[in-house]
Amino acid sequence: MALQSKHLLGLDGTTREDIVTILETAKSFREVLDRPIKRLPTLQGKTVVNLFYEPSTRTRISFELAEKRLSADIVSFSASNSSVKKGETLIDTVKNIEAMKIDMVVVRHGSPGAPHLLSRALQSHIINAGDGGHEHPTQALLDMFTIHQKLGSLEGKTVGLVGDISHSRVALSNIYGLRKMGARIILCGPSTLIPREIEKLGVEIYFNIDEIIPQVDVLNILRLQLERQREALFPSLREYHNYFGITRERLENASKPILIMHPGPMNRGIEISSDVADSEHSVILEQVTNGVAVRMAVLYLVAGGRSETN
Ligand code: CP
Repeated sequence: MALQSKHLLGLDGTTREDIVTILETAKSFREVLDRPIKRLPTLQGKTVVNLFYEPSTRTRISFELAEKRLSADIVSFSASNSSVKKGETLIDTVKNIEAMKIDMVVVRHGSPGAPHLLSRALQSHIINAGDGGHEHPTQALLDMFTIHQKLGSLEGKTVGLVGDISHSRVALSNIYGLRKMGARIILCGPSTLIPREIEKLGVEIYFNIDEIIPQVDVLNILRLQLERQREALFPSLREYHNYFGITRERLENASKPILIMHPGPMNRGIEISSDVADSEHSVILEQVTNGVAVRMAVLYLVAGGRSETN
């Protein structure tokens, strides 16, 4: 099956069928990553531009590796040493790059909607690698892939998203994706970091972390995005850790082992203690490995590839 859209802009606008197609396709690419020779000819002759207007370690390297594994020609662009510094707009920048005959653009930008804007102005396929506090669809897809890999399904599983929901594109994409896949979603954090209207998306809200630990199969622990917070939204980092930090002592109240996830980068000792981050139930580094396979699947399918399994 082919995807219904020529772009991946967010999971809000992605159907359940397309999510299933991406996750199924990612399974085959995940196997390729364990082979001695990890390269396939799938995107030979295609050119992908990675356009990063915001810092990134995982997403940027993961996309670059995914593109190399599929034999695409790749160009990586950093706004900080480009003509953006001379005042060139996003649209002008990308139209100039497109004039050099490219096929796909992977974009991370601080403004919500930047990938959507590009999709209307360009002919190329656009993949959202994170747009401000809006969406981060490939992160949510790799999170869902990892839950499915570890727990066997998403349907009926209870996933707790903990922390700074207000500023988290990871949270929003996970909510859209997990809802479509039939998971129960609990949000937990300080009331100042949970948007008022978010219940309308079909999630449950708790303000006490100790009440959710006995209920969840998965805890996806979000980074406190201090750089996006314009005012003090809680008294201190120590207080945040005391009330919402995930620690071994807190996890002792779990009724079963809980899958520990974090999209990175982690603030160790704030939203997650080091012993939890490095524990036997943590799949944080496996998320990163799976991210390459999921991004290979997205690149392949967005470029017009078809899944063999559905
Ligand atoms: N998870 C994530 O988006 O990490 P980076 O900011 O390092 O890409």
